[in-house]
Amino acid sequence: MSLTRDDMLNELELLPVWQQRNVSKPAENQVIPQTATEHAFVIEATPPIKSVEAMPALVVEESSIETAVAATENLITEEPGSEKTLTYDRPATIMKMDWSSLQACVPECTACSLAATRIQTVFGVGDPNADWLIIGEAPGAEEDRKGEPFVGQAGKLLDNMLAAIQLKRGSNVYIANVLKCRPPENRDPHGEEVLQCDPFLKRQVELIKPKLILALGKFAAQSLLASDNTIASMRGKLHDYHGVPVIVTYHPAYLLRNLPDKAKAWEDLCMARKTMANLQSGELPPSI
Ligand code: URA
Repeated sequence: MSLTRDDMLNELELLPVWQQRNVSKPAENQVIPQTATEHAFVIEATPPIKSVEAMPALVVEESSIETAVAATENLITEEPGSEKTLTYDRPATIMKMDWSSLQACVPECTACSLAATRIQTVFGVGDPNADWLIIGEAPGAEEDRKGEPFVGQAGKLLDNMLAAIQLKRGSNVYIANVLKCRPPENRDPHGEEVLQCDPFLKRQVELIKPKLILALGKFAAQSLLASDNTIASMRGKLHDYHGVPVIVTYHPAYLLRNLPDKAKAWEDLCMARKTMANLQSGELPPSI
């Protein structure tokens, strides 16, 4: 069946055409638009716009009507005064992105105040099809400058830890952080920052489909596992993050200050290596 744009809009009961309210300056908390429905819009009782370019909101050229309907499920409607304002469900939108959309979207993020103080976002580095996903806390000063996770002193130790179990950054390993932006003065991340960044990490995990996650440090472990347990009590067990097994160990920056705990980190790495061998041979870990 071949439908014109107006036929489709009519089918979807989306006429009159929505006009973008703020073209020159994107609204706060907006990600790069991937679909017709990701802007904030005002429905105005004005005549339909004549030009196609004037209505980016409702371009459904390549999608089927079903796809367009599905996209509208992310919309939230409010009615301030006589205008209807449509905003979008940010997490749901992010959860539909592919890898390159996600990569393009993160540097544009202004969802929390860290956007104002970062030099750049730090998306992650490595093999996007890796079996191993290493998750740290947040970029530090060096990472903020270079745009890559774990490039400072802690990063050197992480590379050595990986080498100890025959792994190498970028080769069947992906490295990311809970937060994509540096907290100023390397302070602890705030709850709101984690909340806003969480869909990015969740989508990264969904797309990478790692066999195992290694959570580095208390903050990463507590955020991923939604727990306030101590790292001591989380070590040595298999946890679960949306169906992916998780092993917790000390953060390399902590190990640099607490050398005796390197022995415990080594135990964790051995456990991780054994668990991965089981997972790769198709054996399910007992507690997952
Ligand atoms: N610490 C982290 O948790 N992540 C980095 O990328 C660097 C330091």
